[in-house]
Amino acid sequence: MSSGHTAGHLAVRAVAKRFGAAKVLDDLSIAVAQGEFVSLLGPSGCGKTTLLRCIAGLLMPDAGSITVAGAEITTLPAHRRNVGVVFQNYALFPHLTVAENIGFGLRAQGIGRAEAAPRIRDALALVRMAEHAAKPVTALSGGQQQRVAVARALVVRPSLLLLDEPFSALDRKLRETMQVELKLLLREVGITAIFVTHDQEEALVVSDRIAVMNAGRIEQLADPATLYQRPASLYVLDFVGQSTRIAGIVRGTEAGVVTVETPLGMLRAPGSFAADSAVVVAVRPEAVVLDGAGPALNHISVRLRDISFLGSRTQLHLDMPGDADCGIAELPRLPDGIGPGSAVALGFRIADTMVFPAA
Ligand SMILES: Nc1ncnc2c1ncn2[C@@H]1O[C@H](COP(=O)(O)OP(=O)(O)OP(=O)(O)O)[C@@H](O)[C@H]1O
Ligand SMILES: [Mg+2]
Repeated sequence: MSSGHTAGHLAVRAVAKRFGAAKVLDDLSIAVAQGEFVSLLGPSGCGKTTLLRCIAGLLMPDAGSITVAGAEITTLPAHRRNVGVVFQNYALFPHLTVAENIGFGLRAQGIGRAEAAPRIRDALALVRMAEHAAKPVTALSGGQQQRVAVARALVVRPSLLLLDEPFSALDRKLRETMQVELKLLLREVGITAIFVTHDQEEALVVSDRIAVMNAGRIEQLADPATLYQRPASLYVLDFVGQSTRIAGIVRGTEAGVVTVETPLGMLRAPGSFAADSAVVVAVRPEAVVLDGAGPALNHISVRLRDISFLGSRTQLHLDMPGDADCGIAELPRLPDGIGPGSAVALGFRIADTMVFPAA
C-alpha cells in the first residue's frame, strides 16, 4: 500500500441486489481507501460483476448506498459518476485509431482538441503505446489493446477505476507481464482501483487487499499475506492457495491449543473449540517437512500418491484417509529413494497448523 490513504474513498454500505428470486448481492459492504488497489476474488456467479456494475452505475442496487469521496452516488447515472471501467473484452471502437479510442471519452466530456491532445499523449506514454497512436486498434495485439483500454479509462481522470477480468483473454505469459505493469502503473497514477478476477494468483500479485466473495457477500477482506496465512474460514482457505486438510473431532482445548482426533492421529493447532466439535485441521504445503522431530510439531505418516516436479520445488500428493481430505506438501527438492507409493513421515509446526469448524 502506498502512503497517504484516507479511509473509505469508496464506501459500499449494505448493498443488496436481486435478479428475480436470486439474491446476488446480500447486504454487501466494503470500504476502499484512496489510492488502494483492491481485488474482488470469488467463483463464477458469486456477484463480482454485479457489484462492479452497481458501483459504475450500470445497475441500480435494490437497497444500500454507495459513496465516493463522501458523495452519495447510489442513484447517479453512470456518465455522471466519474468512474472508469475496463471490461474483459475491452470494448474498443474497431473503426477508430488508438489515439481516437483514447480521446473518445474526452470528446464526450466536451473537451476541445487543444486540451485533449496532450492528455491523449500522456495517457499513451503512461501505457507505453506512444508509437502506436495512429494505428487502427484492430492492428494491435491483445496485450496492446488491453493497454489502450486502460489508457482510455484513465484519460478522463476518474476518481475510481474498475477492471473486470481485464486479462482473461490473454495468454499466461502476457497476463503475468500485464499484472505487474498494471500494478506499477496504477501505483504511479495513485488511483483507487477495484479489480475483479477469479484467479487467486492474479489477485495475490496485483492487490493491496483482496476481498474474497462467497454467494453475494464478502467472506474476508485482507492483505494477501494475511489472507494466505490466516484465512477466516474453510472457504477462504480453500479458495486462496493450497493446503492439506484433515477432518477430525475436538478432544480438548488447553492453553490456547486445541487437540483434534483424526484418522492420522492426534493433531494440535492454536485455537479454542468445544470438545466433540467437528473440525478440519489444515496446513499449507510449504510448512510441511520430511521426518521432522520435536514436541512443537504435528506428525503424520502417509503414503505418496504422486510426485510433481515443478522446477523450483517438488510437490508431494498424499494419500489421505477420508474422501473430503486433501494432502499436499512441497519440498525444495526430493530426497533420494522416495517415489509414488513410498510411506513417508511428515511433520509441521503446531504454530503453522490451522483449525476451522467443519463446513
Ligand atoms: N441481468 C441479469 N439478470 C438475471 N440474472 C443475472 C443478471 N446479471 C447477473 N445475473 C446472475 O447473478 C449471478 C451473479 O452474476 P455475476 O455476473 O455478478 O457473477 P460473477 O461473480 O461476475 O461471475 P463470473 O466470474 O462468471 O464473471 C449469476 O447467477 C448470474 O446469472
Ligand atoms: Mg463476472
